[in-house]
Amino acid sequence: MTIELDRRLAAGAAVAREAGRLARRYFERRADLTVELKGPQDLVSVADRAVEELIRARLSALFPEDAVVGEEAGGLAASRVWVVDPIDGTQNFLRGLPWFCVVLALMVDGRTELGIIYDPNTDELYTARRGGGAFLNGEAICVSDCVALENAVIGVGHSPRHAPERFLEPFTAVLRAGAQTRNLLTAALQLAHVACGRLDATWDPYLLPWDVLAGILLVEEAGGAAASYRLRPDFSGGAPLLAGTEPLVRALRPMVTE
Ligand code: IPD
Ligand code: CA
Ligand code: CA
Repeated sequence: MTIELDRRLAAGAAVAREAGRLARRYFERRADLTVELKGPQDLVSVADRAVEELIRARLSALFPEDAVVGEEAGGLAASRVWVVDPIDGTQNFLRGLPWFCVVLALMVDGRTELGIIYDPNTDELYTARRGGGAFLNGEAICVSDCVALENAVIGVGHSPRHAPERFLEPFTAVLRAGAQTRNLLTAALQLAHVACGRLDATWDPYLLPWDVLAGILLVEEAGGAAASYRLRPDFSGGAPLLAGTEPLVRALRPMVTE
């Protein structure tokens, strides 16, 4: 299985890079793209769909026995399944803000074994295999050494999928504790930035599985910690996300989780 996972990690990384290059080409002509609204503040364009189609086509050709669940085209869970967000940060993408990424996680029997996040704007590829460490462009990475909220810079996020209070009340507590915050509008890239120590933690009251599964593994394999993310077997619905350095997760958990 180790060899099979190594093969999938290498192949998944190549697919993420190719998908990221396609996303960049659409980004350069984003003014021409027709944009649809999937829900409040939830946009989709041909770019999201085309990038997901490319990822599906490549994964199905390479690993026909693996299932694929993607944000745009759905799919059915299986014992071995790739969970894909073709573009995390669609709002940024459509507004010309260069903060978005391609996200692939491989789940085996309900556990994330591989996490791959590619930022095509910086050409940064983040990879993790359970028990095998986390890497940025092939170099080992680790979370920051931040232990106290008063020194921390924390990624945050919120959306109309939850009541404003679920963000505002914990957010006030985080600010009172002295932390600085950033909302990059891409949950997966925030997790990648935690894994390489650029952010000290990240929190959002409600994120979907394709936003977080790869990044949680990256943070854990980079020596950080994550509060348990409530995942349904069919990948439906979302849950709160909290990940960061171990001391910060311990300090933040009572403030931000229900
Ligand atoms: C969104 C981003 C954003 C988060 C939203 C997500 P999308 O994903 O991760 O940071 O706050 O809740 O939906 O729609 O750009 O793939
Ligand atoms: Ca997303
Ligand atoms: Ca997306």
